[in-house]
Amino acid sequence: MKILCIYHSETGNTHSVMEEISRATGAEMLRVRDRAGYGKVTMYIRGIPRALRGTHAAIEPDAIDLSGYDLVILGSPVWASRPTPAANAMIQALKNCLGKKALLVCTSGGGPGETLTLMENHAKERGMEVAGSFHVRFSMRGDRNQEEMAALIQAVTKLAEA
Ligand SMILES: Cc1cc2nc3c(=O)[nH]c(=O)nc-3n(C[C@H](O)[C@H](O)[C@H](O)COP(=O)(O)O)c2cc1C
Repeated sequence: MKILCIYHSETGNTHSVMEEISRATGAEMLRVRDRAGYGKVTMYIRGIPRALRGTHAAIEPDAIDLSGYDLVILGSPVWASRPTPAANAMIQALKNCLGKKALLVCTSGGGPGETLTLMENHAKERGMEVAGSFHVRFSMRGDRNQEEMAALIQAVTKLAEA
């Protein structure tokens, strides 16, 4: 089974989760970039209002072809309890996604808020089949929650074997 992890990650947490999935399952990785090019402060000043409005960012790459993949892992950081503008755009940028199986992942320092629900709505609007939603919490020191991470890896492995 061919698996692709597609994700946005500004500060590296979501990237590290996707790396772990890739190590465990052989999944390929595609990190989308928000062309806004945030700095440490502008990420909050500009990022929070944009996330709250549900903005679709200009991203790189701006089209992602899912032909040839059986399972897609979609990842976003939580910004203001929502997906990031780049993650919104990432789901919109998917091509040949009709009927594809997707697993949704978000990372944050607290809870997921509305992030997974909104990502699920976007993915379903694109005709994808959502096979599960996962949140991985990071501590202030940057350590991720090991139980949540293990549950996510287990779910991807199980889907990969199906
Ligand atoms: C603009 C902004 C808004 C955030 N909003 C939230 C939030 O609403 N709830 C929360 O728990 N964490 C929030 N965080 C923390 C991030 O969700 C968390 O650090 C995440 O793992 C970052 O992912 P990344 O390193 O892949 O970019 C926010 C961070 C930023 C930069």
